[in-house]
Amino acid sequence: MKIMRIYTDYAKVYHEMYQSIFDYDAEFELYHKHLSKIKCKKILEIGCGSGHLAKRFLEKNYDYTGLDVSKQMIELAQELIPQGKFIRADMRHLDLDKKYQAVIVTGRTFTHMTTNHDVMFALDSIHKTLQKDGWLLFDNFDAYEIFTGFKEEMTHKSKYNNRSYVRKSKTSFNFEHGWTWKWKAHYTIEENGKEETFEDEMLLRAFTKDELSLFLKLNGFSVIEMQNDSNALFTIAQKINEEKTNAQKIYFKQKLKNLS
Ligand SMILES: C[S@@+](CC[C@H](N)C(=O)[O-])C[C@H]1O[C@@H](n2cnc3c(N)ncnc32)[C@H](O)[C@@H]1O
Repeated sequence: MKIMRIYTDYAKVYHEMYQSIFDYDAEFELYHKHLSKIKCKKILEIGCGSGHLAKRFLEKNYDYTGLDVSKQMIELAQELIPQGKFIRADMRHLDLDKKYQAVIVTGRTFTHMTTNHDVMFALDSIHKTLQKDGWLLFDNFDAYEIFTGFKEEMTHKSKYNNRSYVRKSKTSFNFEHGWTWKWKAHYTIEENGKEETFEDEMLLRAFTKDELSLFLKLNGFSVIEMQNDSNALFTIAQKINEEKTNAQKIYFKQKLKNLS
């Protein structure tokens, strides 16, 4: 899997720039509100990035573990939050020692699961990582909102200390894998009169409520709540089967047969 430059070589740029893209206080409050309702304190955050939410969860005394596929993100999170627990792993192939009351996949991280295969493997992996009756809370892009209001070009400008950032994005339809689109970004970093630029490219995926519900059902989850907020689809699901469902067993048996 190709990990994007903004999550690897430029993880620090992500850390600084995305503070003006995401509202981390609001995102934390959303997860904290729902996790409090379902009484979950032992949580795994998938796609923890540089630890913006980790810091907030630890301040509220959660038994928190952060996980990310990017080595640079994990190193940065550990440097910024030395008391935090962080693991490097790919959400599609989790094999962790512990099981958690809740898994949260934050900041549109699940949008990187662009093929149906990725989605099946990631949900199966998360299912295994949860305790009995455990919870999955995550946000995705809502396909209806993304594709009915599709924007081909966007510019984002921000400042952090004495650095200024400009991100120019170009997007194009790509329906090969599902509700996916290609995003090309050109970044300019300016500091003390010096300029650096780099390019990045990725494929992203949105979901309709129906397809996400079906993926969850096939992987042993019951959907408890799905809410739209602008282009986001926030979902709360609960693990209902301890064992793999029949659909999962058939799917993975066929996949393994195809690979051998
Ligand atoms: C949009 S960022 C969100 C980061 C963080 N939640 C935040 O809001 O700042 C997506 C993160 O998901 C991670 N990621 C992408 N694919 C992943 C995978 N297969 N398994 C685990 N993490 C992944 C990236 O490395 C990146 O840090």
